[in-house]
Amino acid sequence: MHDPIRGKTPKIIAIANQKGGVGKTTTAINLGAALAAEGQKVLLVDLDPQGNASTGLGVDADSREFTTYDLLLDDASLSDVIRATEFDNLMIAPSTTDLSSADIELVSNEKRSFLLHDALRQVAIDSYDFDYILIDCPPSLNLLTVNAMVAAHSVLVPLQSEFFALEGLSQLMISIREVRQTANPDLRIEGVVLTMYDKRNNLSQQVEADAREYLGELVFKVVIPRNVRVSEAPSYALPVLEYDPKSKGSEAYRALARELLAAA
Ligand SMILES: Nc1ncnc2c1ncn2[C@@H]1O[C@H](COP(=O)(O)OP(=O)(O)OP(=O)(O)O)[C@@H](O)[C@H]1O
Ligand SMILES: [Mg+2]
Repeated sequence: MHDPIRGKTPKIIAIANQKGGVGKTTTAINLGAALAAEGQKVLLVDLDPQGNASTGLGVDADSREFTTYDLLLDDASLSDVIRATEFDNLMIAPSTTDLSSADIELVSNEKRSFLLHDALRQVAIDSYDFDYILIDCPPSLNLLTVNAMVAAHSVLVPLQSEFFALEGLSQLMISIREVRQTANPDLRIEGVVLTMYDKRNNLSQQVEADAREYLGELVFKVVIPRNVRVSEAPSYALPVLEYDPKSKGSEAYRALARELLAAA
């Protein structure tokens, strides 16, 4: 969508699933890196007090002077919070554990659900010329995740290829519906991506079959395999695309980025 006066509008995608450890942060980092490698200008917004996306991209905890907490609750300007990473086309708005109190502090704020929405629409966003903004959500359907869904055009759901994977989805879908009814009627589901997929494991195959049966076209064709290189990369503060570009994990995230771009 091009606005001749305001420049291009970045597409904002919330990466959400209230279940912990399903691959949200891994997907935020590596899909972000893969989109950046395709020449897209990407901002990763770390909306999780754990700060795993920030750490995984090499932003030291000590150096996180302005964070997404300041963006939401202290009216910080985007230019104070957004910073470059070591990777071309990939910038980050980092978080720290400060953000863990935000959920409570937000409750008494009249604009509590719209703070990220408004922050990402500061006029200064234009100067960055972003194509994509990916929001890494915490493992909860709290006000932080609601802020992400209100700010976003779509939600991308990582689904771990394990037993009970689909159980949590109905709660997530209810939250998406509520956000549509109250604050963001145009919120779409970008897609569900199967993560940590093990093709030799019957359970992975069963989760995939169920997901494709119940969710149909919403499930990305690309699945992300379980790959040890993917899990090692954050300890070197690198996306897997940099840590081991030829690994199965890198290939999968590059293919996911291409599938996302082809659907745009
Ligand atoms: N494709 C993969 N192959 C192997 N390990 C993976 C893969 N994807 C994620 N992991 C590992 O699984 C763990 C959980 O992943 P991640 O941190 O991305 O999940 P999360 O949903 O962001 O977790 P949280 O809910 O705590 O924020 C991490 O140790 C990560 O390295
Ligand atoms: Mg995470």
